[in-house]
Amino acid sequence: MTEVLVVYGSRLGATRGIAERIGDRLGAGGLDVTLAAAERIADLPKADAYVIGSGVYGQHWMKEAAELVRRNKPALAAKPVWLFSSGPVGRWATAPDPIEPHEIAGLRRAIRPRDHRIFAGAIDRGVLAGSGLSSVEKFVTRRLMPDGDFRDWAAIDAWADGIARELRRN
Ligand SMILES: Cc1cc2nc3c(=O)[nH]c(=O)nc-3n(C[C@H](O)[C@H](O)[C@H](O)COP(=O)(O)O)c2cc1C
Repeated sequence: MTEVLVVYGSRLGATRGIAERIGDRLGAGGLDVTLAAAERIADLPKADAYVIGSGVYGQHWMKEAAELVRRNKPALAAKPVWLFSSGPVGRWATAPDPIEPHEIAGLRRAIRPRDHRIFAGAIDRGVLAGSGLSSVEKFVTRRLMPDGDFRDWAAIDAWADGIARELRRN
């Protein structure tokens, strides 16, 4: 059975939720899925394919997710890889042509992913206090960021189902 590793970087839980959903869809599509948080992985486990995503902060991927990909460029370049970002919230959630996080152009060149998709994200003020965000980030988030869940599950499901179809053809 084709083994797929789904890795996520997530500070407030939104990207973890997207990764779990993608994992469920890939599993339902007949693939053998393992889910892992980027900060828990020192060495990238071997798999036949990878789906890697991160929440976006100040137009950057989380350091743990970006560095995991950078450290493992040769291994990832040799396998099918799909990248996703979980970012835009509020009125930006449905804006056309969202800005790509800074890391993506370099990662595209280095590992040639099959796709990079930006999904709308979520901000749950209820989890801010216990999060690893700095006090400045918490202040800015409470004052300036829209609160709510803007994740588009239909778009996420369709993307994951496309990955499952492609991998079944491999
Ligand atoms: C402090 C802060 C900064 C953010 N900066 C950006 C950004 O630059 N671009 C963007 O698209 N989303 C930005 N967001 C929205 C997050 O990327 C979005 O809420 C995402 O779903 C969070 O993922 P996580 O819960 O997995 O960490 C920011 C959110 C916070 C709280």
